Amino acid sequence: MIQQLGEADTAAAVALWAGTGLTRPWNDAAGDFRRAVAGPASVVLGIRDDGELVGTAMVGHDGHRGWVYYLAVADSARGRGLGRELMAAAEAWLVERDLPKIQFMVRTDNTSVLDFYEHLGYARQDALVLGRRLDG
Ligand SMILES: CC(C)(COP(=O)(O)OP(=O)(O)OC[C@H]1O[C@@H](n2cnc3c(N)ncnc32)[C@H](O)[C@@H]1OP(=O)(O)O)[C@@H](O)C(=O)NCCC(=O)NCCS
Repeated sequence: MIQQLGEADTAAAVALWAGTGLTRPWNDAAGDFRRAVAGPASVVLGIRDDGELVGTAMVGHDGHRGWVYYLAVADSARGRGLGRELMAAAEAWLVERDLPKIQFMVRTDNTSVLDFYEHLGYARQDALVLGRRLDG
């Protein structure tokens, strides 16, 4: 069953993200988690197996588009439909809030996940992402 995670799940979520290759030294994953669970326009959805956190999806919106980050399913729990379930729950969370579109970024070195998303009906968008760090 998918649940909304809270502050107490920070360490378990960060461990899952590290174990699934989603963290980077220059990003503050615990800070990302805490901001998402505290904010009014975001949530972290999670799935537990025997009490252990095995899946997450961070979902939120900026008033214009819905965004998903940190979709992760533990190695031991893959291939059971949890990734699909988490993306469906992220979509439902956005639909409930009348957001017209869901989108997310995929790192260019994570091409193996593209087939998964295409299989779920997501398509590449004709846009480039530009950015700049604001923390130093
Ligand atoms: C991507 C990820 C979340 C998939 O989780 P999962 O629980 O194994 O996926 P599911 O079991 O829900 O798979 C759903 C469907 O996609 C298919 N699928 C899963 N991984 C796939 C892949 N790499 N390529 C193609 N199809 C894939 C499954 O066969 C299944 O098909 P079906 O529903 O028709 O039977 C998981 O592999 C993961 O955590 N990867 C590492 C983290 C990551 O890269 N996250 C995305 C960041 S952008």
